[in-house]
Amino acid sequence: MESTIVVGLERLEYRGYDSAGIALMDDENKIFTVRKVGRIADLKKTLEERQLPPARAGIGHTRWATHGKVTENNAHPQVDSSGKIAIVHNGIIENYLELRKELEEKGHRFDSETDTEVIAHLLEEYLKEEGDYLRAIVKTVNRLEGTFALAILNSDYPDMIVGVRKDSPLIVGVGEGEMLLASDIPAILTHTKRVVILDNEEIVFLTPDGFTVYDFQGNKKTKEIKEIEWDAQDADKGPYPHFMLKEIYEQPKVIEYNIQKYIRDGEPLLLKDLNLRKILLNKNRFIIQAAGTSLHAGLVGRYLIERFAKVPVEVVYSSEFHHRETIIDDRTLIISISQSGETMDTLEGLRLAKNKGLEVLSIVNVVDSSIARESDYVIYINAGPEIGVASTKAYTAQIFILLLLALELGHLKGFVDNDELKHYIEEIRQLPYKLNAILYRDAHIQHIAEKYHKSNHFMFLGRGINYPTALEGALKLKEISYIHATGYAAGEMKHGPLALIDSSWPVVIVNPKTSVYEKTFSNANEVYTRGGKLISVVTEGDEKMKDISESIIEIPQTDEYLTPILSIVPLQLLAYHIANMRGCDVDKPRNIAKVITVL
Ligand code: M6R
Repeated sequence: MESTIVVGLERLEYRGYDSAGIALMDDENKIFTVRKVGRIADLKKTLEERQLPPARAGIGHTRWATHGKVTENNAHPQVDSSGKIAIVHNGIIENYLELRKELEEKGHRFDSETDTEVIAHLLEEYLKEEGDYLRAIVKTVNRLEGTFALAILNSDYPDMIVGVRKDSPLIVGVGEGEMLLASDIPAILTHTKRVVILDNEEIVFLTPDGFTVYDFQGNKKTKEIKEIEWDAQDADKGPYPHFMLKEIYEQPKVIEYNIQKYIRDGEPLLLKDLNLRKILLNKNRFIIQAAGTSLHAGLVGRYLIERFAKVPVEVVYSSEFHHRETIIDDRTLIISISQSGETMDTLEGLRLAKNKGLEVLSIVNVVDSSIARESDYVIYINAGPEIGVASTKAYTAQIFILLLLALELGHLKGFVDNDELKHYIEEIRQLPYKLNAILYRDAHIQHIAEKYHKSNHFMFLGRGINYPTALEGALKLKEISYIHATGYAAGEMKHGPLALIDSSWPVVIVNPKTSVYEKTFSNANEVYTRGGKLISVVTEGDEKMKDISESIIEIPQTDEYLTPILSIVPLQLLAYHIANMRGCDVDKPRNIAKVITVL
């Protein structure tokens, strides 16, 4: 039991990792709780030292602090006053202070600063009042405002775990003589591939041989068991030292898979759903809303959609989308992009759009995630589990989908003729080989990383369709190496940032052969003449950029509109190696988590 929970937590550690804990129900129906500040490895060590009794049920948690500092007391599980109820929680309880005050007036004493502890005490209170477990749970969850996925252990029901979902993901794994509950699929993959995805405002009662689902009014619900396609090894590092490296290397395979899936007889198939096709043809404006790397993919998407489908596109941070009086009408389509499908900023953006009566198309990796489920239409990017906090393979897969979408829509609208479509499909088919050709140069990129890994700041520059590549390259480096890195539109340097440049600055410039090559070359020269050290990502055989660059990374030649899928890969590798050389925890950088489920 203990090891099942610890292995599950290890697979979820990418979602949060400042402290962790576990609660086990022993054979005498007593709950044992162990919590630890630090990583799962620290918890594991403590568990080995403590040698806990065999358990019949258990829950565990890895935390990314929102309410209350990172201390053992604030780690989960949190327990009630009697020590009979233990709870782990993802999300935020917005009205916890008000509930805490109410409970303190009734004599409850709190050991932590968390919002989660309030839930344990509230349930304790309602169990006394109701005497019935389901009724007490229903009453408790209806008092909570905010977002929550809960797992609850109660020593009066020793063979049972209760799960609750509201706006934070939770799934049930249906095993042989065992039931599992987790916030993400990788946690249960070694046990089962049969899952039940809980919907919002659902409660599940699990026993070793079955599960029953209720709504927030206590009414029973029927749920479908789904077989998932991922394998346990998809969520393992395999021979790679880090998930990030494994995922960078998976990019040719992911693109190949998507080519097989979405291109048939030389034609893209994304819009084979006639409703989706009709909707896209009818819209005269797209707003892409996303966060982080997914937003950068959206920025590339803007160039692609405007070029091929001639639809005006706006790209907004989901976290800012909420705060604007965006001018929209029913011919505006919202496109949400998200790897996890659970980013709260993006989910809230989607809900805002839907509340305004707009239609939403989402481009998502995780099947059946909240964003996928709440959208009118979904296109999956099929990247497989992405565990490293730094998003890599999802980014190139998102751009691939946006490229295909733009081409297909452009073709349907008559802006892309058959010959042009044929040219692009041929170019697309070569992408997996070209991606592999870049990966073969990894040793060279590692050598470049060696040269610059001690620098304390970096600038990333790009122009046109590779301007987002510069933003993404900078994000990759800063989030995993903690080096200050800024991405800029190369043409903007002369409007201010050029003043920063001296011989201490490595400047990564992305300048493959495109229509903006000469202009970007001039920008590179502006940096070169001020003493900046240029690390240039260029098309194979480019002698001109070589002359002014300190380091060169070549990528294979491709059409301008496909270059972002190739040009980002050396920057992912550069960030990876630099972070590694600086001794950083590549897969789990400090202060951030893989899935940000808070606003
Ligand atoms: O799961 P999402 O694509 O919605 O996540 C959005 C961002 O949180 C994510 O891309 C983040 O910026 C990554 N850590 C970047 O590598």
